[in-house]
Amino acid sequence: PEDVRVYEFAEACGKSPAEVITVLFGLGMMVTKNDFLKQDELEILGEEFGIEVTVKDALEDANYVGDYQEEEIDETNFKTRPPVVTIMGHVDHGKTSLLDKIRTSKIAAGEAGGITQHISAYTIEQNGEKITFVDTPGHAAFSAMRARGAEVTDIIIIVVAADDGVKQQTEEVISHAKASGCPIIVAVNKIDKETANMDMVKAQMAEKEMTPVDWGGDIEFIGVSALTGEGIDDLLENILLQSEILELKADPEAKAKATVVEASLEKGRGPVATIIVQNGELKVGDNIVCDTTFGRVKAITNDMGQQVKSLGLSETGTVLGLNEVPVAGAIMVAQDSDKEAREIATKRAEHARAKELSKSTKVSLEEMSGLI
Ligand code: GTP
Ligand code: MG
Repeated sequence: PEDVRVYEFAEACGKSPAEVITVLFGLGMMVTKNDFLKQDELEILGEEFGIEVTVKDALEDANYVGDYQEEEIDETNFKTRPPVVTIMGHVDHGKTSLLDKIRTSKIAAGEAGGITQHISAYTIEQNGEKITFVDTPGHAAFSAMRARGAEVTDIIIIVVAADDGVKQQTEEVISHAKASGCPIIVAVNKIDKETANMDMVKAQMAEKEMTPVDWGGDIEFIGVSALTGEGIDDLLENILLQSEILELKADPEAKAKATVVEASLEKGRGPVATIIVQNGELKVGDNIVCDTTFGRVKAITNDMGQQVKSLGLSETGTVLGLNEVPVAGAIMVAQDSDKEAREIATKRAEHARAKELSKSTKVSLEEMSGLI
């Protein structure tokens, strides 16, 4: 919604812009013919004119123009891909600690020394199978990503501290997680603490309709400690079980499509985007469009900090070469040519600008009457 202008709407249903403006004006909504229609306005107009209104997202259209869509539908090349797991939970319940512990306990001893700082996304191997983890910089970012249609997460882990139980953000995270439709696993963290109380957590979660399997529900609760590493193998095995049920597949040969999980402007490097590849393989030299920005992949650094030539399905790393910093949740798509990437990004940028402009335009009554 919000992507169709009054005159476009009028044209699409064979009315004059004035007719549309008059209907809305009669209901106290002031628009000019260049304004974008909001969802409620579209609904009213639909009722008024006795037509069914469905709106296609122009951004999405621009995103999936060309043969990308066809390649996506062609399932002959589909291959099983690793799950992408997002960790969420109340502040201080140990999301980051748990992620760091999983990572350091799962990479070869020789490499572990090289890892000093926390990164927001990485891939590990458990029994020869890969799992990609994403830290949420706050659940706001997660819902922003969802709102943008970036369904990057396959499985959600809700971390609840065993000594603290369900807190406000736990509740929020539960509703986000439920709304996403992803399978949920509850990691009850800090079980090393003397005050840890697994049953308290289970009872509080059951009250939120998150009933543990051993209480007759369908949610797995795994006790873990980010301090000692206890329970981490259990948690990983569980993720792999869930993943198997999901039968996650994608096409490694398709044009690359990735989701930005984090991005920033770095001194001397320009815009840097941390991405997760969802389809195809992202390579150095690829022409990419990412929302309203575009560019050419100059360099890729994998989650081990190494320069690599490409990233495959569900793999994560940072990409250099965009001309602006994209927002978290933006979708990055490889294009056949520099020209295409530029055109799509420019078209979207214009669209976004027009939308901004129409929001800030104050509509006076004189203007209104001039239009009607
Ligand atoms: P935010 O990102 O701020 O929301 O917090 P977080 O959920 O990432 O928690 P973080 O990993 O920063 O951990 C918070 C505190 O709990 C730190 O002081 C950790 O050392 C401690 N902590 C995390 N996990 C454990 C655990 O398993 N056992 C014990 N004893 N302490 C833990
Ligand atoms: Mg954290």
